Amino acid sequence: MVQESIAITDVSDTAIWMAAYRAEESARPDALFSDPIAERLAGRLRGAVLASKVAVPGSRNGWPPVVRTRLIDDLITYALAEGCDRVINLAAGWDTRPYRLELPAELHWFEADLPAIVAAKDRALALDPPRCELTRRAIDVTDRDACAAFLVEATAGAERPLVITEGLLQYVEPAAVLTLSENLRTHGIRWWITDLWTPLLLRVVNRTMGRRLGDARWLFGPRGGARCLRGWEVREQLSIFRAAARWRRSPRWMRPAAGLPAGLLRSGVVCLRVAE
Ligand SMILES: C[S@@+](CC[C@H](N)C(=O)[O-])C[C@H]1O[C@@H](n2cnc3c(N)ncnc32)[C@H](O)[C@@H]1O
Repeated sequence: MVQESIAITDVSDTAIWMAAYRAEESARPDALFSDPIAERLAGRLRGAVLASKVAVPGSRNGWPPVVRTRLIDDLITYALAEGCDRVINLAAGWDTRPYRLELPAELHWFEADLPAIVAAKDRALALDPPRCELTRRAIDVTDRDACAAFLVEATAGAERPLVITEGLLQYVEPAAVLTLSENLRTHGIRWWITDLWTPLLLRVVNRTMGRRLGDARWLFGPRGGARCLRGWEVREQLSIFRAAARWRRSPRWMRPAAGLPAGLLRSGVVCLRVAE
């Protein structure tokens, strides 16, 4: 029976929702990735109820986070092949990449998220061995000084650090995104992988799912995309709609790119680097 008390009340609930979608994808015979821990982390009831409460009836709206996960997996793999020697996942939620990706054992991976998520994740994964060195910290990444102190720790000794902000920026006030972007730029980050959504998509999400998102309404979807992140340039831009069509995850009517407005097609994942 659905428990009414279970719903998205704040942004940290969205992390469980992501894990529920990753568990669902992992169970498919043609899965885009295998995340065997996701099912346990999401918790059968809580994750599934969140997903069903937020889902728009008739749509298959778990596909964007699934496609995003796979696109980011691939970008991490390319960065490692190009000599990335540190991965820093800000707002990692219930992400399990340090446990499921093929990673060099000597790689040091840092994660940060809000205190409640970090404490719960530490408990849930206490007996699971990561495939590389892993450090998890509780911080608010929009707190400029706390984030700067964390970045000093997380980049120490690294020559080519990579930062991931997957599923974070859309929940953050635009001014705080710019502060974070500046913080990353001044701490020697070589690659920054993030999802970026267009103003059109922001409107669609808030209009269709807004009330069910509680305090997790979308706030950041800049006109002009990554151009607002001063000091960064786009190295790679991957449309989530095109990738979803290629992998047959989006609804059939969305698959012909020609039929979709550019304001949707530009939404997706970017790999940024500091502008020269
Ligand atoms: C949609 S989830 C994404 C989690 C994970 N990156 C993924 O893709 O599965 C958003 C995450 O952002 C975290 N978050 C939101 N605001 C934050 C902040 N100010 N500082 C740290 N983490 C934050 C939430 O706790 C949550 O884990």
